[in-house]
Amino acid sequence: MSSRPPTPAEIVPAWRHVLSADLAAHAQHPAASFVQLATLDVDGFPANRTLTFRRFGQAGELVFTTDLRSQKCEQITHDAKAEACWYFANARVQWRLRGRVSVAGARSRKCQALRAEVWARLSDSSRQRFLWPAPGLPLCEPMNLASPRLATPPASFGLLILLPQRAERLDLRAAPNRHLSWSATRSGWRMTELNP
Ligand SMILES: Cc1cc2nc3c(=O)[nH]c(=O)nc-3n(C[C@H](O)[C@H](O)[C@H](O)COP(=O)(O)O)c2cc1C
Repeated sequence: MSSRPPTPAEIVPAWRHVLSADLAAHAQHPAASFVQLATLDVDGFPANRTLTFRRFGQAGELVFTTDLRSQKCEQITHDAKAEACWYFANARVQWRLRGRVSVAGARSRKCQALRAEVWARLSDSSRQRFLWPAPGLPLCEPMNLASPRLATPPASFGLLILLPQRAERLDLRAAPNRHLSWSATRSGWRMTELNP
């Protein structure tokens, strides 16, 4: 057995429990699973888009699905830095999660089980999109609207995995407002309360 202390990424961070509670409080609101993820494009411009949160990984990572042919995958290969921003309208709470993103496709052996699991939970209409022509290119052919029941994911299906290094929660309902920040350090996660 190894006596090595766990790395910050191996410890389920305290903020994850708080974020899970915010998610649970919004379980009846499908829009609460929409998150904005900002990356950097090859020219250094911010590139932002909405993604659907799928689940947490073991170390608190945020897992999303992506078409591997999309711009964001190319951007992440160039620069893995990213920030997710999430707003829970009912609670009036904003989360910002900053870290690095990795992309997992069919060749990422480490994530095969997770990739298959996430695929298995997708609706037919979500699966279908991965059979369409490469996203973001000029429209060239009619979309295939058939819904084949694919048991295994096509090559275009991938996961985006954001491993946060900093998490911030701003609560606008609290009076006065509360602003909590968690940072990954060598010895674990450190929480600080900030001015709102
Ligand atoms: C409500 C909503 C949810 C979305 N969910 C996803 C998603 O889970 N994964 C994804 O790749 N794109 C999703 N999209 C599309 C992205 O916002 C974006 O248009 C697409 O991923 C291409 O972005 P890119 O060119 O930056 O790669 C969603 C869009 C909306 C409006």
